Amino acid sequence: MIATCKESYGAVENMSFYQVGAEDFSFDKQFDLIVSFYALHYVENHGALLSKIYDALKPGGSLQENRWHSQHESDYRKILYEVGFSDIETRTIDHYRYMTRKELFDWSFSWVPYVTGLDDDMSTKFTNDLVDNICKGQEHKEAVEFSSPILHVNAKKLSEILS
Ligand SMILES: C[S@@+](CC[C@H](N)C(=O)[O-])C[C@H]1O[C@@H](n2cnc3c(N)ncnc32)[C@H](O)[C@@H]1O
Repeated sequence: MIATCKESYGAVENMSFYQVGAEDFSFDKQFDLIVSFYALHYVENHGALLSKIYDALKPGGSLQENRWHSQHESDYRKILYEVGFSDIETRTIDHYRYMTRKELFDWSFSWVPYVTGLDDDMSTKFTNDLVDNICKGQEHKEAVEFSSPILHVNAKKLSEILS
């Protein structure tokens, strides 16, 4: 993705592309807007991450985030609030998918991060167990239904920090 961006937009003066862990980024300037799409569910320590994002925003700046749901909406709102964000808006949207068992296996196997570092046998076993779990009670159906809720987040850093 980064290589494609550099190739297509590398010549644009005010655009830069970096590959860096969300937990490790640091910039010596602040931004009006920070966005993230379908990536922050991979991060474990959301408090630490959101503090970094908060510091990297200009006063009045905004965070916009969409991701697969990995924790309770109210827990996430609490973290945003504790970090200092205001005008916090969160919304969970149930996103239903329908796949055959094979499609579900191939799809899960292609991106589920938990198989990273496992050998072929173990990653196949893990993915099969995962698929078994999702298919439980729906074994007779050709296409299995499962929900993967998406969390949408908007939050602001106050334009003036009150003391
Ligand atoms: C589902 S993709 C979404 C990519 C892109 N934002 C999009 O919408 O097309 C998730 C991305 O998060 C990246 N990722 C996983 N863990 C990460 C981390 N700790 N810090 C930064 N990026 C991470 C993965 O490498 C992958 O490129």
